[in-house]
Amino acid sequence: MLQGKVALVTGAGGGIGRDFALAMAAAGAKVVVNDLGTSVKGEGADVGPAQKVVDEIKAKGGTAVASTESVAEWQSANRIVQCALDSYKALDVVVNNAGILRDRFFFNMSVEEWRAVIDVHLNGSFYVARAAAPHFKSQESGCYIHMTSTSGLVGNLGQANYSAAKLGIVGLSKSIALDMAKYRVRSNCIAPFAWSRMIGSIPTETEDQKARVEKLKFMDTAKIAPLATFLASDLSKDITGQIFCVRANELFVMSQNRPVRSVHRAEGWTPETIASHAIPALRSGFYPLDRSQDVFSWDPL
Ligand SMILES: NC(=O)c1ccc[n+]([C@@H]2O[C@H](COP(=O)([O-])OP(=O)(O)OC[C@H]3O[C@@H](n4cnc5c(N)ncnc54)[C@H](O)[C@@H]3O)[C@@H](O)[C@H]2O)c1
Repeated sequence: MLQGKVALVTGAGGGIGRDFALAMAAAGAKVVVNDLGTSVKGEGADVGPAQKVVDEIKAKGGTAVASTESVAEWQSANRIVQCALDSYKALDVVVNNAGILRDRFFFNMSVEEWRAVIDVHLNGSFYVARAAAPHFKSQESGCYIHMTSTSGLVGNLGQANYSAAKLGIVGLSKSIALDMAKYRVRSNCIAPFAWSRMIGSIPTETEDQKARVEKLKFMDTAKIAPLATFLASDLSKDITGQIFCVRANELFVMSQNRPVRSVHRAEGWTPETIASHAIPALRSGFYPLDRSQDVFSWDPL
């Protein structure tokens, strides 16, 4: 399905990204396996994970090269993209998958915890996508896949940095889809649920949290790869600007913000008439303070 294509997958040394790299290589793509080899919190670096995935791909007869640069800096993000162009003289697919977590309740979150997560997820996705953009534009084709999260799309506790970054990525993806449509470049998001080391860092202090994590263990990281491979292929050439979600064997298309109710008063509004007229009329369109688990309330299938 990806024969002749070059795919760059960030954060592909482990978890979901590793399965993307393996699946895309198995589908015929030449793959740049990018991974800084850092901890869940983004501390330290190790060239081992990226090279190990390259070795796995080569052992199965595939083609891959390792890149161990960070997505979180503009210069290094450019070198990641350059690695694809130097190695294979082409680039067709960019998957923004690298990620870290620094969970903390908002009222205790440090500036450093905020910045580290925004830098890897939101800035890193912009840097890598932007570095590839001139190439995609001039060849008049290209495909971006960005990893978002229901933590941003729906909500979650203790993840202000991550939720903001992941919802920012949705805006980035839509903007890329709009700005680059005339160059036949596509951009879509996937919100995955998968048991990876990242989920292993979810706090399990209460019985409720422990039960939730047990259910998450059922969700194999490899279950996300078929959708990413499809989106990377020409079979999805009319699909752009969408947000998908994968949870084990379930696939979802997610909603996007549109007005749900409106009220109008020809003479305009005062704070008092907003209270007495607008809010009672609009209230049925309000959303509860749901977290991801309240919306995805049934066990993964
Ligand atoms: N696992 C889930 O259920 C879940 C849910 C929602 C979203 N996601 C998203 O999916 C993506 C993959 O997550 P995962 O669960 O496989 O996590 P993971 O921790 O297993 O993998 C993330 C990889 O990114 C790499 N990385 C971190 N910072 C980097 C940097 N600056 N440059 C290059 N590589 C870097 C890490 O070394 C690691 O190998 C992330 O974007 C994550 O936010 C995952």
